[in-house]
Amino acid sequence: MGRVLVTRRLPDGGLDPLADHELIGPNADDAPFSHDELVVRAGEVDAIVAVLTDRIDADVLAAGAGNGRLRVVANVAVGYDNIDVRTAREHGVVVCNTPGVLDETTADLAFTLILAASRLVHDAEADLRAGSWNGWGITQYLGRDVHGATLGIVGYGRIGRAVARRAAGFGMRVLHHARGDTGEPGYLADLDELLATADIVSLHVPGGEPTHHLLDARRLALLRPTAVVINTARGPVIDEAALAEALHAGSIAGAGLDVYEHEPEVTESLLVRENVVLSPHLGSATRETRVAMGMLCVEGLRAVLLENRRPANAVVYPEAP
Ligand code: DGY
Repeated sequence: MGRVLVTRRLPDGGLDPLADHELIGPNADDAPFSHDELVVRAGEVDAIVAVLTDRIDADVLAAGAGNGRLRVVANVAVGYDNIDVRTAREHGVVVCNTPGVLDETTADLAFTLILAASRLVHDAEADLRAGSWNGWGITQYLGRDVHGATLGIVGYGRIGRAVARRAAGFGMRVLHHARGDTGEPGYLADLDELLATADIVSLHVPGGEPTHHLLDARRLALLRPTAVVINTARGPVIDEAALAEALHAGSIAGAGLDVYEHEPEVTESLLVRENVVLSPHLGSATRETRVAMGMLCVEGLRAVLLENRRPANAVVYPEAP
């Protein structure tokens, strides 16, 4: 049995497998722990169940590992750009995440944004709700067809592939770009070529330094004027100011965004643009998936604390944790 800091309330059942541990948190009102509180708490526990808004940086890890107590950080997310993994490794702290259980749910959301942004659903709905729709019109709300369009998937891991499967069902032509040659039909080694070719570009790369501003002003300028950009990956993958500028200038047709460069802030001009669909980081937000994410996290944590073994979902497993 160990002492575990749980930073946020998880959906029902997500923490059941921790019943035999001593839990600290979440706060009664589910308020996030401040960074200072995380530093203090980290020194008092064997494990942390974190969410993607908790910054588990060198200070938190040093405080946790300082007295040799903190052994594992289990992130209830597949992305782990909120954790300083290099420092975790240096301190012998295991880090695990939630791969696999959220792929289909996140792909569903990506496809929702593809459809909504292409068919101007949010714009038309806003008019209807505002009472400014005066009846059917033959030139109203003319979106673009999704069927028959070319989808360019950037990042061809589990989620990218789940989006590709949906796209095939919609009769789309699917191209993909990945760091290494996938050897599969539709692979393009040159990201710039994919951007210049696709009608819809959907991002599925991990966050962090290597992909920071992967879509910068230069690459955005390669997109077709009819192109739609979808981001359900991580906000900083796109230079958000440059994207807002491209939308304003009409050099691209639209965007569907679930993640933002400075969450929860959103570039002001995106909020008022009608050719952008915005959702508040909903990618994995279904009850079933969030419970599964909690369970998988806890599985990893138990493997370390109770069995002293490498969990299947470890992203950092120092030699002698
Ligand atoms: C993740 O798990 O990284 C997602 O962004 C959560 O929705």
